[in-house]
Amino acid sequence: MGHFDTGAPHGALPIRLGPAGDALAGRRVLVTGAARGLGRAVAAAAVAAGARVWLTDRLQDEVSATADELGAAGWTAADVADAGQVEALVEAADAGLQGLDGVANVAGFVLHHDPLAIPAEDWARLFAVNVTGSYLVAAAAARRMRAAGRPGSIVHTASEAGKVGHVDSLAYSASKAAVISMTRMLSKALAGDDVNVNCVCPGGLDTAMLREVAQVYAERTGGEPDAVLDQLVAGQLGRRASVDEVAQAYVFLLSDAAHTIRGQAVNADGGDTPY
Ligand SMILES: NC(=O)c1ccc[n+]([C@@H]2O[C@H](COP(=O)([O-])OP(=O)(O)OC[C@H]3O[C@@H](n4cnc5c(N)ncnc54)[C@H](O)[C@@H]3O)[C@@H](O)[C@H]2O)c1
Repeated sequence: MGHFDTGAPHGALPIRLGPAGDALAGRRVLVTGAARGLGRAVAAAAVAAGARVWLTDRLQDEVSATADELGAAGWTAADVADAGQVEALVEAADAGLQGLDGVANVAGFVLHHDPLAIPAEDWARLFAVNVTGSYLVAAAAARRMRAAGRPGSIVHTASEAGKVGHVDSLAYSASKAAVISMTRMLSKALAGDDVNVNCVCPGGLDTAMLREVAQVYAERTGGEPDAVLDQLVAGQLGRRASVDEVAQAYVFLLSDAAHTIRGQAVNADGGDTPY
């Protein structure tokens, strides 16, 4: 991120979301990390595109409130890193939606450390949630899709950090690179079941997570968090991408329109990552 090295200087580009359409009409989609931030926006965009959604998050009160606000079919509070809770979650979503044909794995978190002094328990927890959690939800859902002979789609959440990476968040960056690799392998593993698997790589978004990042950078540089946050923009957009804009990429990848796009790590970072 950084707006100093792009083409001609310009002001912030407007947000254009376009019509919601009906790309997910009749789809039954489980969304993780749905209480707030990007997960909430993905759930809202899926509903707007015609899907019935089941929400999950480890924040019980928040996910329950979000489910009410969005008109979700239901919700389950669960920690995606806990295999037992994930089994119960996917069973509840499958029963509540009367079938499952889409998963958006958005739950995740970031930590910052001295790159040579990352506590083992922090490393383990980052991988348990960001990588294993996404895997557990995807595998449990895919087993049900396979058993029911239903086609489906699964969209994971990686990050530009999984491609470019950040020294200050080395473990997080490594976990998101693992999500990209897992996406490729699951895509191959599930192709015969007609289950399409991709991941989205957002750049900096205006969520609680990015405010946390700005706070850490401010502490390291002696700057003001708000001033640091102002610098964390996507160069070509001249601003941060909104969660609602990035949610459109999930709707597309969950839909039949993405049938030929398989095992990919799709950048939704306003043009900052060139590969
Ligand atoms: N915000 C950014 O700039 C940015 C950039 C690139 C990628 N991402 C990724 O996007 C995803 C969403 O991030 P966000 O910015 O909306 O963050 P956020 O913190 O606002 O929301 C994340 C949600 O995931 C939930 N969650 C975290 N750990 C969980 C667990 N173990 N089990 C169940 N739920 C859990 C949280 O409770 C929260 O509701 C994450 O995977 C993140 O790594 C974010």
